[in-house]
Amino acid sequence: MKIIIEKDYESLSTTAANIIKEEIEKKEDLLLGLATGSTPIGTYKELIRLHKEEGLDFSKVVTFNLDEYLNIPYTNPNSYHYFMEENLFKHINIPKDNIHIPDGNAEDVEKFCREYDKKIEDCGGIDLQILGIGENGHIAFNEPDDELYLGTHITGLTESTIKANSRFFDSIDEVPKEAITMGIGSIMKSKKILLLANGEKKAPVICELLKQEKVSTRIPASLLLLHPDVVVILDELAAKNYLKEI
Ligand code: F6R
Repeated sequence: MKIIIEKDYESLSTTAANIIKEEIEKKEDLLLGLATGSTPIGTYKELIRLHKEEGLDFSKVVTFNLDEYLNIPYTNPNSYHYFMEENLFKHINIPKDNIHIPDGNAEDVEKFCREYDKKIEDCGGIDLQILGIGENGHIAFNEPDDELYLGTHITGLTESTIKANSRFFDSIDEVPKEAITMGIGSIMKSKKILLLANGEKKAPVICELLKQEKVSTRIPASLLLLHPDVVVILDELAAKNYLKEI
């Protein structure tokens, strides 16, 4: 696990975007796994700038998003479809057919989940997966539990995640209680993983993870310790507790 600590959110975002840029330049048809949430917004902004000002080409890039709420209209600004369109896709030259986001409104969601993993495999597997991390250690919506699913699946969200995500909704009651998410196996099959975390709220979980002492399904992100190519990029606030320990 390579750990990069940046001064602030802005430099974290630039560093992350530059790593993505390098990977696209190495492989123009990169299979890029994407996350939503607050963390990657700055990285997406920088990717948009790199596209507009430096000609970074997304015309052959293929994306697969980690997750989407269940039964939420895609016109709802809190849906991850809407988020991706607004924060990245509409600003870059990625063809619509190259974009994949779990369909929380599919007629047969179980079937959709099976097909999502198959599609990733058929496309050659994810080359670079971007991840955020929940305060409770979740990655995508793989919430702390005794067991974790390997493939894409439907999952209930924990109270802690519902509370954390309620900041985007008018009231906590509006936060969907279920989602489709890639599983731990789908994520671990990625060739390279970029885990991003900023802000003080993430400091305790980041500290626990970076001690690199043990893996536990109670901290789903700890399974990343078993992956051979993970880069963790933090700002100083998220790294605070970890820096006190070392
Ligand atoms: C979103 C996702 C989640 C977030 C995590 C952190 O696609 O997979 O695991 O990465 O909840 O969210 P933020 O970035 O809002 O703190």
